[in-house]
Amino acid sequence: MSAGAAEFDAFPRRGGVLHAERVALEQIAAEVGTPTYVYSAGALRERYRALDAAFSGRATICYALKANMNLAVVRTLVALGAGADVTSGGELFRALRAGADPSRIVYSGVGKTDAEIDAALDAGIRAFNVESRAELRRIDARAGARSRRAPIAFRVNPDVDPETHPYISTGLRTSKFGIPIDEAVDAYAEAKTLQNVRVVGVDCHIGSQLTRVEPFSDALARVRALVSELRGAGHAIELIDVGGGLGVQYTNETPPSPEAYARAVLAAVGDLDAELVVEPGRWITANAGVLLARVLYEKDNEAKRFVVVDAAMNDLIRPALYDSEMRIEPVGSATGAPRQVDVVGPVCESSDFLARDRALAPLAPGALLAVRSAGAYGFAMSSNYNARRRAAEVLVEGDRFAVVRERETLEDLVRGESIPREITG
Ligand code: LLP
Repeated sequence: MSAGAAEFDAFPRRGGVLHAERVALEQIAAEVGTPTYVYSAGALRERYRALDAAFSGRATICYALKANMNLAVVRTLVALGAGADVTSGGELFRALRAGADPSRIVYSGVGKTDAEIDAALDAGIRAFNVESRAELRRIDARAGARSRRAPIAFRVNPDVDPETHPYISTGLRTSKFGIPIDEAVDAYAEAKTLQNVRVVGVDCHIGSQLTRVEPFSDALARVRALVSELRGAGHAIELIDVGGGLGVQYTNETPPSPEAYARAVLAAVGDLDAELVVEPGRWITANAGVLLARVLYEKDNEAKRFVVVDAAMNDLIRPALYDSEMRIEPVGSATGAPRQVDVVGPVCESSDFLARDRALAPLAPGALLAVRSAGAYGFAMSSNYNARRRAAEVLVEGDRFAVVRERETLEDLVRGESIPREITG
């Protein structure tokens, strides 16, 4: 958030108890159960508006659904004017179901299938972010078969190090994403020869959770040079999509403010007379959500003390997958001297931890914990591993809340499965 701007505190502590806006998290846990993701509508709106204002309205904000695809979350942003960045036919379906304007939807992803391409053509999206020449030809063929002209931008890979976790770095020469920027001129020349695609722009996304603006500036300087070259070659570049990736604070990170980020983007490509698209996911939703969990047991093994909670790696995989550190707070007041603990879930793997070697005050069974900054890549990456039912999701607004996704039932766990007696006996 910008220095000086009074940040809306979506999760304040009142009377010693952590709240989501004006609703006590204890109340949500009592009525909905745990584990539950809780999102603040006020925080979602505030962050969307802050980013929009940082760009002075000069960018189309295509919210990256992959961060949090809950329909109510997407709807809250769409109602403010957000478009969508989708990465699969499923996300396209969700974006449309949430009311997104197809002319504000961009579609990125290295493995678009025929059915997904067709659905995006039928919806009439703003642009396909094309990740290979083979995909370009496929889109051309599918569009031809449907008598449509597909708007395309190549996703170019500028070979810039985003200085983030390797699993979420996408703009390096060694990554599977996009086409090498040095081959872009040839790729655009090929696009021009195809009947059923229309070149509309250039796209670039170098990674996620960036905590410095320099990699964005370096990448966009290369995009800028490419745009000039492409225009020189007669391509109408009317759209520049700068991707997502702005980092947030989980613990001690000091990510750029939205203003600093917008300044860097606008300085690099703001004067190019093109529509600017940004695809933020994490920055909008991460700190608008918490994962609410209940303590089941405390246990001491010889070398370690564990707090076992009812949320696990299937609910929130970021600590296991990226070694991410996410803050954990007791919901009620916890007294007693903090001790070093691992906060773990019930899943049968040692990678099932939400935090390791964390100082927490003693917690009795039944106590509630909130994992902060869990609004992005939390529920969206959750699974049914260990036949665990996926968590409920709740959206809070002021002193009201609504369950926006019910906790799965046992029957949901076996939906679609059958036992073919002729084979199984
Ligand atoms: N656009 C494209 C093409 C992307 O691949 C991504 C993220 C975004 C936009 C949004 O990036 P954001 O603004 O959220 O950084 N699961 C990981 C993050 C994976 C990001 C993948 N791509 C995590 O939990 O850290």
